[in-house]
Order: sequence, then structure tokens, then C-alpha cells
Amino acid sequence: MPATCVIGLQWGDEAKGKIVDILTERHDVVVRYQGGANAGHTVVMGGQTYKLSLIPSGIFRPEVQCVVAAGVVINPASLLQEIETLTSRGVAVGKNLMVSTRAHVIFPWHFEEDRMLNDSTGGEAIGTTLRGIGPCYRDKVGRSHAIRLGDMYREGFATRVEQIVAAKRKILKGMGCTEDSIQLDAAKINEQYRDYAERLRPYVGDTTIYLLDAVESGKKLLFEGAQGALLDIDHGTFPFVTSSNSSGVGVSSGSGVPGRHVTKVLGIVKAYCTRVGGGPFPTEQDNPIGQHIREKGNEYGTVTRRPRRCGWFDVVAARYTSRLSGVDTLAVMLLDVLSELPELQICIGYTLDGKPIKDFPDHVDDLRRVAPVYESMPGWQEEITHIRRYGDLPQKARDYLDRLSALVGRPVEVVSVGPDRQQTMFKS
Ligand code: GDP
Ligand code: IMO
Ligand code: MG
Repeated sequence: MPATCVIGLQWGDEAKGKIVDILTERHDVVVRYQGGANAGHTVVMGGQTYKLSLIPSGIFRPEVQCVVAAGVVINPASLLQEIETLTSRGVAVGKNLMVSTRAHVIFPWHFEEDRMLNDSTGGEAIGTTLRGIGPCYRDKVGRSHAIRLGDMYREGFATRVEQIVAAKRKILKGMGCTEDSIQLDAAKINEQYRDYAERLRPYVGDTTIYLLDAVESGKKLLFEGAQGALLDIDHGTFPFVTSSNSSGVGVSSGSGVPGRHVTKVLGIVKAYCTRVGGGPFPTEQDNPIGQHIREKGNEYGTVTRRPRRCGWFDVVAARYTSRLSGVDTLAVMLLDVLSELPELQICIGYTLDGKPIKDFPDHVDDLRRVAPVYESMPGWQEEITHIRRYGDLPQKARDYLDRLSALVGRPVEVVSVGPDRQQTMFKS
């Protein structure tokens, strides 16, 4: 039965949350399957803005089951805080939320390690969200220092925390932390995490089996990607990436649902590009155009409030990530942000050392050295935030969308002209 994936095709913050909220109406289950509280997904409806980090953006429709699957890393304090905030604002969070026993848990040492590792790539800092994401995934793959949500309800949990704290003290010291700065008290951590575990108990379950049962019994699943495909640990702009498979390839490993059930992949792009954190960004406009986009698009991190770097739409990157994620159609978001600009540039290719190259480079050193080849298009000067039908968009805006679609090689299905649910149109 049908399963749809929503995947960001750039460096994150493509407005995936908004699209997932809208598509939730046509689905039975919404699934987060990778990433953690590094994600910040925004849903705006009826003048209210909600920011979600771990809870799927389907939570606003109580009849829909929301699942946080095995591949997500959980900071229990963030999750509880999110549940509390939603509840206090009248959003029901109960049996409609299920969190995997297999999901790995973020502990205080992960934050410390994130801080220490962030700027030790030997050059430019990764600029992580400092949410402990990378270190938690490192421990998951390394196994010896990992704790999963299900472990917190089992005998031996307290002893395991004590052992890991002892090991982490040594590791952190080796990384250059002073004795004073290693604030790890096993007894305190145990007490705190026992409390978290009790409060989370009603939500915790075997999501892998739940999702397999759901998909096999014909329920409609919607997978909500976090981050964007260019931040994918294997296929992104390594090492300036996140620590999970944030392109379409992560859906099945993170959720446990075989890829053969996925019948539709919607690739989400901004009408331009942004990036937050370090790493090469060929079309970056570190100039008044970039500043204009930042201010008009309110391009400041949802999680960290860091100013996002802004630049022109990059077809080379979007074509690569569309293929990588098996994208069927595109949702082009934040089109309204480009209104007013007299001329728009689209990066249609790269040259490396003066020679055209066909594909997105596999090494950041090359990506740093490419020169974008631009095609220019006239902008439209009209305000478009009130438009609700594709045919009512200014001709120049439709020309821009047609050109993006032709260059990326995927049809545009959805266009967004503002943050609200209503400011969305489907191109039929
Ligand atoms: P996500 O992480 O992919 O869910 O995206 P974020 O929520 O981090 O960032 C997208 C931002 O753009 C949010 O503040 C949204 O409210 C806002 N947004 C979404 N769609 C539009 C749009 O079409 N126009 C404008 N101006 N803002 C939008
Ligand atoms: P959503 O789901 C944008 C970036 C960080 C940093 C790199 C690694 O809202 O699109 P991490 O903390 O994951 O180890 O940081 O990845 N990053 C994001 N950028 N949107 C996100 O999520 C991001 N999650 C991580 O800025 O460059
Ligand atoms: Mg975001």
C-alpha cells in the first residue's frame, strides 16, 4: 500500500514540516526515522506557529498515528519538553505518539563531546547544532557505550550508566577537557533519566513491528525526513554533514519498512538555497542579495537561531539529490521570498579548473573550488503571498518554476508562497 516520503533536497530547512502537516490529512501514520532534536520543523496554522524537533509534524491531526522510529536519536528532556509545550497549547499528545524502544538515547556526555569534536576537523568547524547528535550516533555504531530507549526500562541500566560515565570521563579528559569541566555525576544522571523514562513510558513501544503491521495491512504511511540530502552522512558534503542518512536512502534503515513499500517521493526545495553551519556552498551570496533573501525569508535557524547562509538555486545539487532520493515530484517552497528581486540566477552547471563538470563532486575540496555557471531570468515584482491557484501566479514566476523543473528533471507538484497552511497550491 502507498507510502510517501518527504525529503529535503538541499541543506535542510526546506519547509518539510509545512508539507508534512498538509499531507498528513491523506495519511494514517506519520514517521520520523532519522536525526533528532537537531531538526526544527515549523508548522503555521490559523496564526499559530509550532516548532517541532522530534515529534512528527503530523501531530496536529489527532486521528493520525505519529511514530518516532528506531533510527532517531532521542534527547528525553527535549522530547518531554515538546510534549508539554504541545499539550499546553491544546494539541493532544497521547496514544497518537509512539517512540521506538530501539531509538538511541542522548546523554549529557554527548553534549560535551559534540562541543569538543565540532571544531576538530582540522580546518573549518562543522558548525553542528550542539545537540549531541553526532556523538550519540557514534556510540550507536561503536556499540560499547550506547544505550537505547528500551534499555532504560531494564535491569542493569543504572550499572551501565555508571560504567559509561567512568569510560567517558577518561575519553573527555583525553580530548582535552579539564577535570572540572567534566560535570558527569552517574548518580544524578541515573536519577534524572529514571524520571524521564517513567514520564516517557506511555509512548514507548516497538515501532518497527507497528510500522510493518501498518504497511502490510494497507495503512498509508508518510515518512518525514529531517535535514536535507546534502547533509547525508554517506552521500552529502562530508564531513560537513549530519550523522544520519538524511537523503531518501535512510527511510528504510531508520524505520524498518522496506523501500519496496514506498510509492511516492516528494522532494522539497526552497526556490533558492540556504545552509547553516560550515562547509562549501557554491551558490552562496555573501552580499546584499544574500542579506535580502535572509531578511525577507526570515532565514534564521529554527533550532539555534543562527543566521542561515543564503544563495541561488543550485540545479547541479538538486538534480543529484533528486536522483539519490528517487524523487518523483518537487515542492518548491518560499517562492514569495524571491518577489521584488529584478533578476534571478539559477546555477545550471559547475566548472572545475575552468572545465565543465557534469556531476556533483564527491569531495568537499572540489566542491569548494567549483565555479557556478549561472543562467539569469527576470524576476517578478508582484507580491504573491495571497495567491492560491497556480494559474494565478505571475507569468514570470511560472516561467521560473518551469525552468527549475526542466533543469532538475522533475515536475513541480506543490508551490508555497508563505508559511501558513493556506499559502500552498498544488499544480494539477
Ligand atoms: P524544515 O526544517 O524543513 O521543516 O523547515 P524550517 O521550519 O526549519 O524552515 C522553514 C521556514 O520557512 C519556517 O519558518 C516556515 O514557517 C517558513 N516557510 C515555509 N514555507 C514558506 C513559504 O512558502 N514562504 C515563506 N516566506 N516562509 C515559509
Ligand atoms: P531540519 O530537519 C539545517 C546541520 C548543522 C550542521 C550539520 C551537522 O530542520 O532541516 P548536527 O547537529 O546534525 O551534527 O550538525 O548539519 N543541520 C541542519 N541544518 N536543518 C536541519 O534540520 C539541520 N540539522 C542539522 O547546522 O551544519
Ligand atoms: Mg528546520
